[in-house]
Amino acid sequence: MTTSNRRYHITTFGCQMNKADSERMAGILETMGFEPSEEPHDADLILYNTCTIRDNAEHKVYSYLGRQAKRKHEQPNLTLIVAGCVAQQEGESLLRRVPEIDLVMGPQHANRLQDLLEQVFDGNQVVATEPIQIVEDITKPRRDSTVTAWVNVIYGCNERCTYCVVPNVRGVEQSRTPEAIRAEIEELSRQGYKEVTLLGQNIDAYGRDLPGVTPEGRHQNTLTDLLEYVHDVPGIDRLRFATSHPRYFTERLIKACARLPKVCEHFHIPFQSGDNEVLKAMARGYTQEKYRRIIDTIRHYMPDAAISADAIVGFPGETEAQFENTLKLVADIGFDLLNTAAYSPRPSTPAALWTNQLSEEVKSDRLQRLNQLVEMKAAERSQRYLGRIEEVLVEDQNPKDPTQVMGRTRGNRLTFFPGKIEELKGQSVKVKISEVRAFSLTGERMMNAE
Ligand code: SAH
Ligand code: SF4
Ligand code: F3S
Repeated sequence: MTTSNRRYHITTFGCQMNKADSERMAGILETMGFEPSEEPHDADLILYNTCTIRDNAEHKVYSYLGRQAKRKHEQPNLTLIVAGCVAQQEGESLLRRVPEIDLVMGPQHANRLQDLLEQVFDGNQVVATEPIQIVEDITKPRRDSTVTAWVNVIYGCNERCTYCVVPNVRGVEQSRTPEAIRAEIEELSRQGYKEVTLLGQNIDAYGRDLPGVTPEGRHQNTLTDLLEYVHDVPGIDRLRFATSHPRYFTERLIKACARLPKVCEHFHIPFQSGDNEVLKAMARGYTQEKYRRIIDTIRHYMPDAAISADAIVGFPGETEAQFENTLKLVADIGFDLLNTAAYSPRPSTPAALWTNQLSEEVKSDRLQRLNQLVEMKAAERSQRYLGRIEEVLVEDQNPKDPTQVMGRTRGNRLTFFPGKIEELKGQSVKVKISEVRAFSLTGERMMNAE
């Protein structure tokens, strides 16, 4: 079957891993001759890259799918693909629910899209959800940005947090080799990218499944070693990494981040709860005291570091007093950004079966109270930027004001300032901050002479 003049549209839900997978799948489709289509209804191939982290994320995709399934009756050569975490969770049962789907593919199969599509074009309905050794990434991803890029370093997760579907849908940890990661970053640099974010669901686990032990018995392929190994790729100005797990975050890593100039002073370390009993029930493997020590150590070496995190309210059995411990942690630490969520019971996770579930009212009340505090604290944290000169890597035009460009500080604060995107895209410039909001800043560019 010819794919020339055929157009594709990808809708991505969920986290950065899904976004990175979508970019790789878009790259595969373009190598096969597909062209991108802005509008789903103009496309001949629709791919939903799905998320199932919470119930509402999962349900979104069913409403989208329903519309396209109808369209398929008028346009039988429409190809309908469900990829990502809902695909992995539901597998064949998705075909029973929506028989118009041509291909159901789990996240581990993203790099195999061409092979799977060929089976579809041969007239098969295909389900690819069996666990596999992820094939090394030889695709040319179609990246959404031309300045910043994601690079997967470890797939999967071996933790067993009692609320979380990720280990079920993303499989066991599989690290890419340092050589493959460095080669990808070198290629990004040749293409003009300036910032790279290394990605993993539990990035601190990087390298545990790779060989290599030092004479002292220490694992050689840790995240710290990786940062050191890729740090000198010329042309790349900034390195970031996410997501960190407090259980494994080491002082050695913190010292390396402080020492390595390209590693940005921003750390995303979800704590989930500020209460030790709840943390235990979540099987997170640390206490709130340990979490506070990590942040203290980071601030000891990098006093201005930005800290962001995720937290869940309304975990089964969480009492008002336990919830207040989360508020207390948030008030004490002062996060630059906190992603908050009400607990959502997920299929095949232990906590979903417990009988001490909280009501939706309690959960949403706690969520609201936490969000208020987060916003207040983030606004306070923003104040420290006022009048300061920050290095901003320019990514794009401000979509709301074409006379301005936007980029991020090293601490990951979104920053706007007057300027022309044609001149400034991809440049690191000094910006004097004149206005601060909870989650973004505005400033003026400093000219060299100033
Ligand atoms: N690997 C990361 C997080 C991955 S999922 C970590 O260990 O922290 C992203 C976030 O979604 C989590 O940090 C958590 O806050 C939230 N989350 C995961 N499962 C959830 C559930 N069942 N209900 C509500 N929020 C959840
Ligand atoms: Fe989920 Fe826990 Fe793994 Fe994060 S570390 S992806 S929360 S199981
Ligand atoms: Fe969602 Fe899967 Fe990411 S469930 S949060 S897309 S790993």
